[in-house]
Amino acid sequence: MERKVTVPDLQRMKEAGTKITALTAYDFPFAQITDQAGVDVILVGDTLGMVVQGLETTLPVTLDEVIYHCRMVARGRKRALLVGDLPFLSYQVSREEALRSAGRLIKEGACEAVKLEGGIPMADTIRALTSVDIPVMAHIGLTPQSVHRMGGHKVQGRKRGRGPGQRERVLADAMAVEEAGAFAVVLEGIPLDLAEEITLRLTIPTIGIGAGVHCDGQILVLHDLLGLFDRFTPKFVKRYAEMGRAAGEAIGEYVREVRSGAFPDDAHSFLLTSAAGGGETGDGNRPSRRKRAVA
Ligand code: KIV
Repeated sequence: MERKVTVPDLQRMKEAGTKITALTAYDFPFAQITDQAGVDVILVGDTLGMVVQGLETTLPVTLDEVIYHCRMVARGRKRALLVGDLPFLSYQVSREEALRSAGRLIKEGACEAVKLEGGIPMADTIRALTSVDIPVMAHIGLTPQSVHRMGGHKVQGRKRGRGPGQRERVLADAMAVEEAGAFAVVLEGIPLDLAEEITLRLTIPTIGIGAGVHCDGQILVLHDLLGLFDRFTPKFVKRYAEMGRAAGEAIGEYVREVRSGAFPDDAHSFLLTSAAGGGETGDGNRPSRRKRAVA
């Protein structure tokens, strides 16, 4: 294994001009695959509500659910920095609640950092978390927990102005989260020239999703990248695989073979062998002690 990625490493990567790679993951097998593929940061995002639970928005996701997924991911990743997402209403009500929720992600979810959505209004919360050494990744621009204010998952920062979602406000949000002590900021769904300006002005790394090439790093939702989520595909998503289609084809073949009797054939069945003295065996000879016999 390459050396473990830490929070300060991301700052060093920005300074060295090394792009940061980040991806979401929600369970053990994909955490292993993602980690072994060399991703620097794994985020257990509240997008799990949409791509794993089948919800329309991220809003109903609970802290307990995020923690449940973080534990699975923590077991599968060795090298990547593990960031847990604070879901809607787990950090907005009071700073005490934010501290407790973030603390649970670290303590019960084995996360090394937390992510929260919001700029200027979240600055004091970021200060409270970082004052007790909980590293915070901020998230500004298109913030999915603000879906109702935005009127959908809409690109932000296109219009000039200081109102929520307007260009000067997104810039001010970026400055505020850095000043409050965030160690990185996700820029989602903003024009690439605005992301470039923010990336140049901030000393902390920017991690873009739908924010163009100038960010210090990129993040995507794993199920989008792998072609496992079909409900909609935002313009910024590049599907590097069509795993949903491949899985459907494989399962369809299994169904056909079971119906025709082609599966299981002898190669996938246990045979009686006199050498082993009979009985059920894992390899045709040795008595298997495993619960799941391997052929
Ligand atoms: O919840 C999530 O997966 C996220 C990423 C899209 C950045 O916030």
